[in-house]
Amino acid sequence: MDGLQESTWPLRGLPATLADRTRRVYDRMAAVYPVSTMLFHSRAHRCALEASGIRDGMSVLEVATGSGEMFRRLVRANGGGTTLGGDLSPNMAARTLKSARRRFPQARTLCQAVDARHMPFRSEAFDAVFCCYLLELLSAEDIAGTLREFRRVLRTGGRLTLVLIGQDARWFNAAYRLAGRAAPAFWGRQVERRAPELLISAQFEILHDRAVRQSFYPSRVLVARK
Ligand SMILES: C[S@@+](CC[C@H](N)C(=O)[O-])C[C@H]1O[C@@H](n2cnc3c(N)ncnc32)[C@H](O)[C@@H]1O
Repeated sequence: MDGLQESTWPLRGLPATLADRTRRVYDRMAAVYPVSTMLFHSRAHRCALEASGIRDGMSVLEVATGSGEMFRRLVRANGGGTTLGGDLSPNMAARTLKSARRRFPQARTLCQAVDARHMPFRSEAFDAVFCCYLLELLSAEDIAGTLREFRRVLRTGGRLTLVLIGQDARWFNAAYRLAGRAAPAFWGRQVERRAPELLISAQFEILHDRAVRQSFYPSRVLVARK
């Protein structure tokens, strides 16, 4: 399992069967989710875009788009390229596509229901892959498989930009543990501390690592090269 053992995983590894519940819960949240993204994720999204090194004209994929806030940033930055997105929740994917097409009608873009663990894209299809706040929701085994998928769809030298929920505040971690216990399919558990090791096991080279805070909410932005 690429250096990952469920038994050594911090803070309760998630059961592999959680994905169906995750899809249902995010499907139901699609209409209100933009508020949470604006309050807690927008600064990290901005930093991720800056650090990613993407240039207009690239072939870009975002996995787990949620309601599409980062996706729209990517489409705007990559107006002359192709920007694809996917989310396990069909409602999230549909919302993302609709808003991107409305704001950027000329852009070459598509967003569809996609499971990050098995993606319907050919190998080496993308110059850049983005994924924000997904790994928390995957089991240890699925994280390893998903990182392999990211590597597979990236061209050699292509970059993966990951955003994770930070683990550098004790009280926040305690609150997150409680939330994760109450609703594991929505919150998952924090995995940020293990992220560099996981990227290295998946044969990525880390280029950029930055902590970001938006009010009380900590995030970590990692950029890695295949
Ligand atoms: C915490 S939200 C983050 C949304 C967005 N990336 C952001 O930065 O605000 C997690 C998203 O991951 C999606 N997701 C969960 N499991 C997934 C999987 N296996 N494949 C693709 N997307 C998944 C959920 O449907 C949800 O939209």
